[in-house]
Order: sequence, then structure tokens, then C-alpha cells
Amino acid sequence: EEAAKEAAFEARIEAGDFIEAKDWMPAHYRKTLVRQISQHAHSEIVGMLPEGNWITRAPTLKRKAILLAKVQDEGGHGLYLYAAAETLGTSRDEMTRALLTGKAKYSSIFNYPTLTWADVGVIGWLVDGAAIMNQVPLCRCSYGPYARAMIRVCREESFHQRQGYESLLVIMQNGTAAQKAMVQDAVNRWWWPSLMMFGPPDDQSPNSEQSLRWGIKRFTNDELRQKFVDATVDQAKVLGVTLPDPDIRWNEARGHHDFGAINWDEFWRVVGGNGPCNRERLAARNRAWDEGAWVREAAMAHAAKQQAQHKE
Ligand code: ACO
Repeated sequence: EEAAKEAAFEARIEAGDFIEAKDWMPAHYRKTLVRQISQHAHSEIVGMLPEGNWITRAPTLKRKAILLAKVQDEGGHGLYLYAAAETLGTSRDEMTRALLTGKAKYSSIFNYPTLTWADVGVIGWLVDGAAIMNQVPLCRCSYGPYARAMIRVCREESFHQRQGYESLLVIMQNGTAAQKAMVQDAVNRWWWPSLMMFGPPDDQSPNSEQSLRWGIKRFTNDELRQKFVDATVDQAKVLGVTLPDPDIRWNEARGHHDFGAINWDEFWRVVGGNGPCNRERLAARNRAWDEGAWVREAAMAHAAKQQAQHKE
């Protein structure tokens, strides 16, 4: 009977149907989704930290308002994604515990520091740009609740990308030489880590094959990385910055840009917990959790009181 269920499930995937929370699904499909969606949720929540670092120091009221809205959006993305993961039978508490104890993975990119204001613009342009490239295909992911969450996330993500690019454009067009150099320095520091966001090369990506077969992933890590490089080269030209890779050049035969070798040792070091800010990020999340304890207790006390009143 299990085999018949599995065959029916595979047929639905083949037909491009969405799988919903109450539908039968193989245990490994469920596990893969919980892994990916919870990691994605954690990435959004930890991703609030590097930019949150600049809210009090944004150069103008306009930039502060934009940055506040963006960081709030990221908190919202984390919440939709935790909710999507919960539909698969994992609890929010469990996921939170995994993050706070350092057991859960989250995107490598958020373990790098934001040293100057230009980093905020570059995160919008490159990091959110890479996120969109990876996430637009997830709107067609085979799991309905994840796919639907991604539609809204992607709309907001494209605003994030544009606000970053626009803020850099203003600096590059009207800034002083020192300000322009600050943008170039931020591009130099964020370029390679942005390429690492797409994950290990295909031949070292243990999850890709099954995830592609199940329609969880629609493109491989290397395919998305290539699309991102191709899209970014012209944007860099318009901006007037240089991407820090002398090997980037158009390859007529491939119809794509070639680019240099990525430092995968650095990637695995960061994923393994030893990037420049891993400890700081986990400490910040733990502090927020501890300092928020009274809010959770008050909410529980309030809910209990309401329930008692309804019973009367
Ligand atoms: N940072 C940290 N860990 C990573 C990264 C990364 N950039 N890329 C891959 N990994 C991890 C994977 O989670 C996996 O670990 P696990 O098996 O212990 O879970 C391992 O490296 C091997 O990678 P893959 O087999 O390629 O894993 P997968 O098929 O899940 O592909 C990817 C990784 C592309 C990140 C995929 O999970 C995905 O598309 N996730 C949804 C998007 C997302 O999470 N974005 C977060 C950053 S964007 C943002 O939040 C603004």
C-alpha cells in the first residue's frame, strides 16, 4: 500500500500538481522541506542583524525609513517561512531551539560584517539580487505552502534589491571620490560571498538531485549562480564599479560569462560556524530570545486569562 501511495505521489509531482499540508508525502520529502524551509527562515531572521546594525546610522531620514521597512520585511519573511515549515509537523519551538543552539544552518552570507554604509546598498544589490535569483523559481516549488509564501517574499525582495541599487547609484553619480571608493570596497568584500550563497558546486551538492526530481528545486546551484553573474555584469557597468574578478569575460560559445574560481574552503569554514561573525550572530539571537522571555510569558498569561473568562 505504501508503494501505491508513493507511486501516486510521484505521478502528482510529474503532473506539476501542488502538494498540500494534509496530503500524503514520503517521509524524506517532508524532511527535505523542513530542512530547506527552516534554514531559509533562520536566514531571514539572522539576516536582519547585519543591516539592523545601520538603522541608527542611516545618513538621511529617507534611507532610515527604507532600511527600517526592509529589515521588518525580513522578519515577516522569517515568520511566513516558519509557518510554512510548521504545516509539515515541526514546531516553531523546535526550530528556534535548533537555531539558538547552533545546530541549524542558515545562509553563510549573514556571517560577514557590515563595515560601512555602502555595505547596506551592496547587500540590497548583490545579496538580495542573489536571493531573488534563487527564490523566484521556488514560487513554483511542488510544496504549496512554501510556493505561496515565496510569491510575497519575492515581491518584497525585488523592492529590497532596487532600493540597494538605487542608493549605490546616487553615491556613484553624486558622491565624493572617497564615497565612491567606499562603494567599490564594499563590492570587493561582498562579491565572492554572494556567489557562495547559491551553495556548493553541483558535483558537491548532496541534496540537489533528489530535490530537483521532487520539484523542490527547479535549477541547480551552478545554474542559478551563472544566471546571477550574467545579470550582474551589466548592472556593475551602469553603476561604474568593478567586480573583483579579473577572469570575468563573455564566452560567446557558452553564451554566458566565465568567472574565476570560488574559494570553497572559505565557504565550508563559514558554514561550519567559523566565519567572521558566526559567534556574534548567534549571541545576538540568543540575547534577543532571553530578553523577549517576558513578552512570551505575558502573552501566555493573557491568553490563559481570556480563556478562563470565556469559560465563565
Ligand atoms: N549557506 C549555508 N549553508 C549552505 C549554503 C549557504 N549559502 N548553501 C548550501 N548550504 C548547505 C545546505 O543547507 C546543505 O546542508 P544540509 O544538508 O546540512 O542541510 C549543504 O550545504 C549542501 O548543500 P546542497 O546539497 O546544495 O543543499 P540544498 O539542496 O538545500 O541547496 C540552497 C542549498 C540552494 C541554499 C537551497 O537550500 C535553497 O534554495 N534554499 C532556499 C533559499 C534560502 O535559504 N535562501 C537563504 C538566503 S537568502 C535570504 O535569506 C535573503
